[in-house]
Amino acid sequence: MLSLKNLWVEYGDKIVLERISLDIAEGSFVSIIGPSGAGKSSLLRVILGQERPTRGTITLDGAPLPAECGPDRGVVFQRYSVFPHLTVLGNTLLGLEFAQSPFTARLFGAQRRAAVGEAEAMLASVGLGDSLHLYPAQMSGGMQQRLAIAQALIKRPRILLLDEPFGALDPGIRADMHGLITRLWREHGLTIIMVTHDIKEAFSLGTRVLTLDKRRHDPHAPHRYGAAVVYDLALRKSVDEAGITIDANHNNGHE
Ligand SMILES: Nc1ncnc2c1ncn2[C@@H]1O[C@H](COP(=O)(O)OP(=O)(O)OP(=O)(O)O)[C@@H](O)[C@H]1O
Ligand SMILES: [Mg+2]
Repeated sequence: MLSLKNLWVEYGDKIVLERISLDIAEGSFVSIIGPSGAGKSSLLRVILGQERPTRGTITLDGAPLPAECGPDRGVVFQRYSVFPHLTVLGNTLLGLEFAQSPFTARLFGAQRRAAVGEAEAMLASVGLGDSLHLYPAQMSGGMQQRLAIAQALIKRPRILLLDEPFGALDPGIRADMHGLITRLWREHGLTIIMVTHDIKEAFSLGTRVLTLDKRRHDPHAPHRYGAAVVYDLALRKSVDEAGITIDANHNNGHE
């Protein structure tokens, strides 16, 4: 579905990513790991359409990726800036209001009732059905991330980009969120690309794990080489009643 060909990301004379070529299949759950500064967030920004790569192409279903982030791509960051002056319901509705009424971001009558129904259903699905009228300041970090996920999914994206979405959460809450995201991935037939620092999380959630790192390093000019995909592991997962069993298929040496 998503195809990156010989992608480079450079800031001035600093090379962050070099020669990234990837094909991402529809319905896959791709985890991305790698050291801090490797360019993981930069790669997500390029896929999101927030930034142009300095070289290379990205295609979605064979056509060049639209420059702006359309409704086909949703995103959740580590700390999402939900709007503090809007309730849970208001935050979720906003996405629909912008999509359906780009100039005023207001909906009226039957259109508004339908949007409220849709937002309520989405919030129930992420476990916020009883919190519709709370403000972000009244919610825990886990609840805010649930809201961020609802806000991203209400626009029905095909691709969900997650940048360390659970990084700031307690272990117990993280486990709940893992269950939630796995369920939403299946129910919505999403393609997910998730950056994480937690290797266990990368393997337990992903159907594929990519590692970004520098292949070469010039100690006199650290900016000279960018990171590339150094490991690309496809995981075969069989889901049964007992949970998920993983059987890693090593195909080291991506290029
Ligand atoms: N707009 C920018 N201008 C200049 N340099 C940038 C810009 N954005 C990112 N960089 C640099 O690109 C490199 C990669 O940054 P990026 O945020 O993508 O790394 P990361 O892998 O997400 O790191 P972390 O794990 O710490 O989040 C860093 O060295 C960063 O300083
Ligand atoms: Mg980052």
